[in-house]
Amino acid sequence: MEKGIRNFEFQNPTKIVFGKDQIKRIDSLIPQDAKVLILYGGGSVKKFGMFDRVVEALGTREWAEFGGIEANPTYETLIQAVDKIKAEGYDYLLAVGGGSVIDGVKFVAAGAVFDGDPVDMFGSGVGKGLPVTKALPFGTVLTLPATASEMNNNSVVTFVEKQAKISFASPHTYPQFSILEPEATYTLPKRQLANGVIDSFIHVMEAYLTYPVDAKVQDRWAEGLLQTLIEIGPDVVDEDNHDYATRANFMWTATNALNRFISPGVPQDWATHQLGHEMTLAFGIDHARTLSIVLPAMMKVRKQQKWDKLLQYAERVWDIRGDSNLTDEEKIDLAIKKTEDFFASLGAPIRFSDVDLDETDIPGLVEALVRHKKENISERGDFTTEDARAVYTAAL
Ligand code: NZQ
Ligand code: ZN
Repeated sequence: MEKGIRNFEFQNPTKIVFGKDQIKRIDSLIPQDAKVLILYGGGSVKKFGMFDRVVEALGTREWAEFGGIEANPTYETLIQAVDKIKAEGYDYLLAVGGGSVIDGVKFVAAGAVFDGDPVDMFGSGVGKGLPVTKALPFGTVLTLPATASEMNNNSVVTFVEKQAKISFASPHTYPQFSILEPEATYTLPKRQLANGVIDSFIHVMEAYLTYPVDAKVQDRWAEGLLQTLIEIGPDVVDEDNHDYATRANFMWTATNALNRFISPGVPQDWATHQLGHEMTLAFGIDHARTLSIVLPAMMKVRKQQKWDKLLQYAERVWDIRGDSNLTDEEKIDLAIKKTEDFFASLGAPIRFSDVDLDETDIPGLVEALVRHKKENISERGDFTTEDARAVYTAAL
């Protein structure tokens, strides 16, 4: 077994501006002579006043808007923003929204200056998977803590026509800055709050639940984030409880779950996400709600491969200790059960039947994984499409 942290290089250039009434800081973060395009989603930012505050902060700068980026942003919509930038010449982009808007803006920022067809920024059978060597500068104003897109370089895009939900990443697609106002979460409904807690939890698990390499900082940091989510989760999903301290912890935990601080030099899985993306693509289920279904089944099916880390998870995260008179397997099984109960307590689905799917839906999901070249995934590269079938089946 490999031991010790692998060689790594790590750099995260995004400036975080966190706290109350921080949108006004945009004025000092974007060049005075920038021509700015503000991009947003289905309208929540206009309804709840964020948009007007952003416009005020831009002062005398020239600006225009591009709205209508949908949840699970589509290539077909985003390419219209690329065309608008090419036609009208913007040199700074500002994403105001959740992960979908921020992911979308990463694609638009790179697509607007890509040499060739922007579809070729993507692999997985959709494009040529060419490297992204430049992008327009952009900042973000976060309205939904969940994806950590505000402090990473990933972008997940849905291709409606080609029926694919896939990602790209580049050193050029980190936001230059992100404004994190915890009070922006006060308008989120319970379902989106639960989505944020669960997506963050599973981002940590993808980097943690593999095999031990004696990476003490990464492990303990991950365990701290998981314990924080377990502790604050019930209060976060109470949509009427606008406790600033709770929402501030929620927002910063979500960012840290996938800003890569916990994952340099350690094995990572991401199979749960790959299986979940196919469920979103095929059935339109929210990203996090696919994960709360897949992860418990993944833990059961991959118990042997993940044994040591599952035991560590049981002991350190759920405090199921050596003096509990349980065998190691009983500790692991109890930790899996507690994970499921936690997700269910937040109002999230944990079975196919909770979202009206059944065994007849599995073959199509497995075929899509093959079509999108998502075979031999996981921390060991040994997770086959037969394993995927087993995980989906265990989730029925
Ligand atoms: O579109 P609007 O009207 O703004 O409404 C949104 C949307 O309907 C609403 N919302 C956002 N902020 C709000 C609000 N409603 C009230 N008050 C607010 N403050 O919430 C809905 C969902 O928003 P969305 O951005 O889709 O959610 P999320 O942040 O969960 O993003 C999901 C997308 O991110 C991708 C997912 O695959 C999915 O496409 N991911 C991106 C990752 C990354 N970049 O690293 C990693 C993740 O694993 C994930 O794959
Ligand atoms: Zn996720």
